[in-house]
Amino acid sequence: MNYRPMFEAIRIGAAVPVEYIDELIFGRDDEKKAIIDDLDFVINGNSKIRVFVGDYGFGKTSLARYAEHQAIEKGMVISYLSEKDYDEFHKQDELFKSIMKNLTLFGIDGNPIRIFLDGWAQEKCELIKNSGTELKTVEETKDYILKDSENFSDGLFAQFCSAYLFKVLNNESVEELIAYIMGESVDKRFLKRNGIYHFLANDGWNFLKAFTVLMKNISIPGLLIVMDEMESFIHKRSDLRKKSYNQLREMVDTLNSGKLSGIYSVWLGTPLWFNNNYKGIRSNTALFNRLTNLSGKQTNQSILMNLNPITLGDIENLVNKLVKDYQQVYSVNIPAEKTKKIYDFLIENYKGIEGEVRVSTREISKHAVELFDLIKENPDMPMNDILNIEVDTTEERKKETSVNELW
Ligand SMILES: Nc1ncnc2c1ncn2[C@@H]1O[C@H](COP(=O)(O)OP(=O)(O)O)[C@@H](O)[C@H]1O
Ligand SMILES: [Mg+2]
Repeated sequence: MNYRPMFEAIRIGAAVPVEYIDELIFGRDDEKKAIIDDLDFVINGNSKIRVFVGDYGFGKTSLARYAEHQAIEKGMVISYLSEKDYDEFHKQDELFKSIMKNLTLFGIDGNPIRIFLDGWAQEKCELIKNSGTELKTVEETKDYILKDSENFSDGLFAQFCSAYLFKVLNNESVEELIAYIMGESVDKRFLKRNGIYHFLANDGWNFLKAFTVLMKNISIPGLLIVMDEMESFIHKRSDLRKKSYNQLREMVDTLNSGKLSGIYSVWLGTPLWFNNNYKGIRSNTALFNRLTNLSGKQTNQSILMNLNPITLGDIENLVNKLVKDYQQVYSVNIPAEKTKKIYDFLIENYKGIEGEVRVSTREISKHAVELFDLIKENPDMPMNDILNIEVDTTEERKKETSVNELW
């Protein structure tokens, strides 16, 4: 494997590309195991929410990518939501639009919804034509679909699919219908003209349910909805934030109700987002109670998993792994005693009074790679001089301080 892109990501402090995640993530065995268990549970016909809470740089996005990677292996469809998707989240239909807009399926360029619908419509088209059936209106098309398949019940999805199929049968463009389902605003009169009287705002969950049924018909076992960077809800206006948290609560209830199967949603955010009394999840007692244990103790069955700083042993493993890959990518030799010095230096620098590591894994790996870079550029400089070069971590620190001030 070419590890260069991994180092590029670490240098800028971004989550590394998905193909490196499995080997790079240290000290998150419980979390990884939970994800694997969840995916099995979901593929066997259930739905589930999992929440990971951890500070900046503790590896939330990395875990989300791990879930993504595992879901891809299982052939699932993924919808990855992040900060950019939450501006309008207080609106009823926004969750569904965001899910649809961000859909990806491994091996397919662009949004797969089009491919699902076209595949389905082409098949129906042929059946209809071969049987000599003539469908003259959208209404007749819908009656045909409802009779033909037990998977459809009348509602937005059936209406939408009928409109879609009717257009395909008549060689008309489906662009506007696709635009609607991907979240663009489309004139309601256009929708009504095409037999669509239910809208995402009222029928979103049924729509999603029907969508997962359609997915299963083409052997896609489930849908992973990642909701990363949920701390951005904190910055919403308070009335909009309340509405957003109520939407989240509805999501928890619906996914737990057994009404929908094959949906796994992973939520990620900072402790501030979760625990703040005024702006966090805690401010919505009903939602908070659904996601937390009464005892406050965490087990592998808990919905909420808190990410702790990784242990000293895992930092050592991480540094060793990075050194190994670094030498390969940059064709340099970093002898074991230098590696040891780097490790000792990092621990010394980042250890709290209790002996625990008190900074993010992001900061540690970034700092380690910067030291490797210095060694590479200055092969003859003694290690002590290299370690004495001041590394400016003020940006990270500033971010942490500003977050703490929010409390
Ligand atoms: N458990 C871990 N083991 C190794 N490196 C980690 C771990 N967690 C985070 N990192 C490093 O920190 C970087 C940023 O992590 P990221 O997942 O973006 O954190 P967050 O989303 O919590 O801010 C990763 O690319 C990786 O280099
Ligand atoms: Mg992140």
